[in-house]
Amino acid sequence: MEKWSAATIRDFRRTLLDWYDQEGRDLPWRQDHDPYHVWVSEIMLQQTQVNTVIPYYQNFMATFPTVTDLANADEATLLKAWQGLGYYSRARNLQRAARQIVTDYQGHWPKTAAELTDLVGIGPYTAGAIASIAFGEVVPAVDGNAFRVFARLLLIDDDIAKPQTRQVFERAIQPIVDPKRPGAFNQAIMDLGASYMRAKNSDPEHSPVKAFDASYQTGRVADFPVKTKAPRPKLIPYYAVIVHSPAGYLLVQRDATQMLTGYWTFPLLLQADLPPADATETNNLAQDLAAITRQFKTDYQLDLDLTVVGGQPVSHTYTHQRWRVKLLVAELATTPSLAFFPGKWVAGSEIATLPLPKVQEKMMTRFQNQGHPAAFAKN
Ligand code: ADE
Repeated sequence: MEKWSAATIRDFRRTLLDWYDQEGRDLPWRQDHDPYHVWVSEIMLQQTQVNTVIPYYQNFMATFPTVTDLANADEATLLKAWQGLGYYSRARNLQRAARQIVTDYQGHWPKTAAELTDLVGIGPYTAGAIASIAFGEVVPAVDGNAFRVFARLLLIDDDIAKPQTRQVFERAIQPIVDPKRPGAFNQAIMDLGASYMRAKNSDPEHSPVKAFDASYQTGRVADFPVKTKAPRPKLIPYYAVIVHSPAGYLLVQRDATQMLTGYWTFPLLLQADLPPADATETNNLAQDLAAITRQFKTDYQLDLDLTVVGGQPVSHTYTHQRWRVKLLVAELATTPSLAFFPGKWVAGSEIATLPLPKVQEKMMTRFQNQGHPAAFAKN
């Protein structure tokens, strides 16, 4: 690891902040240092690109202008505002933390990184970002950008996939953070990480901090950061059962034991939960259809005549799971009662008013493209 002298650190800060003052991005959450604005933007930016976040951030602030509005928001409005951003537990944690601030802290934000981590969903990175940007605390904010930038600048070769590596970086960066402008310093690092020092297509040759970039100076940019590969997301085969009656489509709301809690989808069945083929132990389609039909009959008293919707199964990848969803459809001439089924009928034109996860939108698009063009048309 490189060790910088006090003079190098001073030079680096000046070079970095001069560049940031000239070229830093003009982003909606940078218009002020309001902790609520900083916090919401940082949570949105954790797993999502800046360009995707901008419209969500603007809509979120129009919908929930203050932390109190967010604390008091109803669930469907909250989930709808987050729809499409992914990692949906972020939205629920945001509201839980808003309630902590309003109730436990009487609306007064804790102002240090150490205290901020007491709030739900705020880890060391977000705490550092809020404390430095909103409150001027001299702490680093170490996210993927900072790992990459400082791994290259200082030739830190610890594996950033390992949790204990965070401390190595925090200790290395702490003395470099500009004590007069810690928030600008951390955001300048983010901007470097999004431009000259990207993971792919980096451009260290033109970087404003090229002279400080030991990986560039030694021709080893591609070797930093060191990161062992995460295991591939596990393939999970599902069936989605699209039941259509004169009253609309059968939808279920995901419960608290499931991911995507609170969002609505067509009923989804894990292929692995269906009885396996008798002798071979491998499922085949006809057998699965028979098993699903039996299950809807015995558990829910619904008589379905299932057919397969054409086209490829719908795929959607989460951090640890890759869903492959085969679509089935049953058309009903009359609308049966749902006394035994934990869901509701929703008119095709109304579905879009519910909070829907991306995979549900993909299923709807596939269904429309496979011979049901008007299924979910707006009225
Ligand atoms: N990525 C994470 N936080 C950010 C911020 N405040 N500005 C730009 N990109 C970011």
